[in-house]
Amino acid sequence: MNIVNLPPRPHFPPPVHVGIIMDGNGRWATARGLPRAVGHKQGAEAVRRTMEAALHLGIRYLSLFAFSSENWKRPAAEIIDLMGLLRLYLRNEVRYLCENGIRLRVIGDRARLAPDIVALIEDSERRTAGNDKLTVIIALSYGGRAEIVEAARRLAEKAATGRIDPNEIDEDSLAEHLYTADVPDPDLLIRTSGEKRISNFLIWQLAYTEFMFLDVLWPDFSRSDLEAAISEFHRRERRYGAIGV
Ligand code: FPP
Repeated sequence: MNIVNLPPRPHFPPPVHVGIIMDGNGRWATARGLPRAVGHKQGAEAVRRTMEAALHLGIRYLSLFAFSSENWKRPAAEIIDLMGLLRLYLRNEVRYLCENGIRLRVIGDRARLAPDIVALIEDSERRTAGNDKLTVIIALSYGGRAEIVEAARRLAEKAATGRIDPNEIDEDSLAEHLYTADVPDPDLLIRTSGEKRISNFLIWQLAYTEFMFLDVLWPDFSRSDLEAAISEFHRRERRYGAIGV
């Protein structure tokens, strides 16, 4: 076949790193007269669908905002439900992750998580460490400002003990002290549910990212939503502050 006549592939090449703020579980459940916990459960199904779609499309990094530092302010019962779902997920999903070459990483403040959840996270990260098709980064008890403060604190400690010259601290050295030190910045950020905020998610890393705000609620998010977002991503021109051609 003459290559000139091939149909365009609107999702190709895929963005290397896609971030998603998974929003709208509660509204999805409330609209159906169901408890919010059911919305979160359906949200976990959408996580599985999205990982499959990301694998299929050739995305290399998928970052998912699962629980923010601010989410600790939710009612205790909802936090218990969410943590229970997370336990289930970590216990049951590792086999699927390994069968499909998916590496799992979790970023955020582990000191606030229950010790058994921390142990499950460490076990899942260890068991999936050799997988290299797709890296799924779950942000849990995560806040972008806190991440930057922690990086600044570690740099200050190094400066105080003479291990780094303060004059040499630059964007690269700060980025090297973030959870995402070895991960390329997201190319595309999607937020579902119609809200148009970044809510303290990867605020350093999103400096040049293309944002897409979709009206779909997270439990309804499908492969075609991801494909449509990637097609739109390809229609945008990324200039990184320079002048377009
Ligand atoms: C936002 O919806 C969603 C969350 C705070 C939790 C996200 C959790 C999941 C998708 C399920 C578990 C995740 C994993 C990785 C297994 P919301 O409750 O803020 O919805 P609302 O804005 O409609 O109230």
